[in-house]
Amino acid sequence: MAETLLELRKFVIPEIIIGVDARLLIGRYISHFNAKKPLIVTDKNIHDFDWFHETVDQIRPHVEKLCIFDETTPNPKDIEAMIGAELFLSLGCDLIIAIGGGSAIDCAKCISIVATNGGNVLDYEGVDEVQMPGPPLICIPTTAGSSADVSQFAIIKDTAANIKRAIISKKVVPDLALIDPVPLMSMDPYLTACTAMDALTHAIEAYVSNTHSALTDVHALESIGLINQAVEQSVTPARSIETMFQLMLGSLQAGLAFSNASLGAVHAMSHSMGGLLDLPHGECNSILLEHIIRINFETVPDRYRDIARQLGLLVDNVSDYLLLEMITTRIASMRQNLSIPASIMVPNLKESTLDYLVENALNDPCMVTNPRVLTKEEVRMIYGRVLESQK
Ligand SMILES: [Fe+2]
Repeated sequence: MAETLLELRKFVIPEIIIGVDARLLIGRYISHFNAKKPLIVTDKNIHDFDWFHETVDQIRPHVEKLCIFDETTPNPKDIEAMIGAELFLSLGCDLIIAIGGGSAIDCAKCISIVATNGGNVLDYEGVDEVQMPGPPLICIPTTAGSSADVSQFAIIKDTAANIKRAIISKKVVPDLALIDPVPLMSMDPYLTACTAMDALTHAIEAYVSNTHSALTDVHALESIGLINQAVEQSVTPARSIETMFQLMLGSLQAGLAFSNASLGAVHAMSHSMGGLLDLPHGECNSILLEHIIRINFETVPDRYRDIARQLGLLVDNVSDYLLLEMITTRIASMRQNLSIPASIMVPNLKESTLDYLVENALNDPCMVTNPRVLTKEEVRMIYGRVLESQK
């Protein structure tokens, strides 16, 4: 048995219900929590969807008043969390229901932290800095990607510094995740692609993380297989509820893995890029993933061989050199099949911007668990490959 598998590890997860129409159980759970004034945290687009109104209809009979904060935006901002917390307190709310993708759920977690602990949300950046658990938090994820509904992570943008800050704490693990594939059926195909690649990145980074464990490995590997089989089908008009369920299950398992094993250089660099340039998180990860696999490969080749098998590649008797080519080719072809570009155009990209990106990526908590220590020069070289200056 590998030495790391004998080390102490913890594994934290919320109560999970997964399946078609899981979201419609919300009323029952609000009663379990004896909540009378829940606050829904979501975004403005949610009102367009029938499945959202069906969900709200399940809540109303169980509460005295239903409050909605629908001001969350992609790459959620510190100011949104502060406004949401003020609303929660001023209305006397007693439970939070996050409905949305990772942005809405992360914002809800931050609202919960500030509503209970006071101060500014950025005070809680880092690992285990949150003292008091917040009000009950129920999550209904609407993308198969972030796994914020099961994770110990909340990512929030520091708008003054233009940096995404990571809050990692057992106190932000939701109480309940109602994981339902129905909302995925109305999700934009490009968002589906980017969020699925985010989930795949979670699983791969968790599997090669310095703090992986037997409990996280099993979920990471299962996740890679599920996403690999479903992802290309999930962006076509012919996608079925079965396909979207498979994607959601893959995303959930990736979440169970990364929430407890943490992530790596893809996420560290992606947080830095996404924060400064306001880019979609899943798109950044998709673009970075093949480059980071290349640079990490030699440190843990056997782990990448396991990953390759889950990607459906026949690698039992191939050399490490060929193995690396096969994995990176599959990841690149998956990205291309999903119409995600290989690089991102940035208006007037300056050397000083690259310096800032490198510095922030190296300071990101996710970098600590990357299997290999990356140098400043290596991080800069990878940014040079994925970011193109647009004159
Ligand atoms: Fe992610």
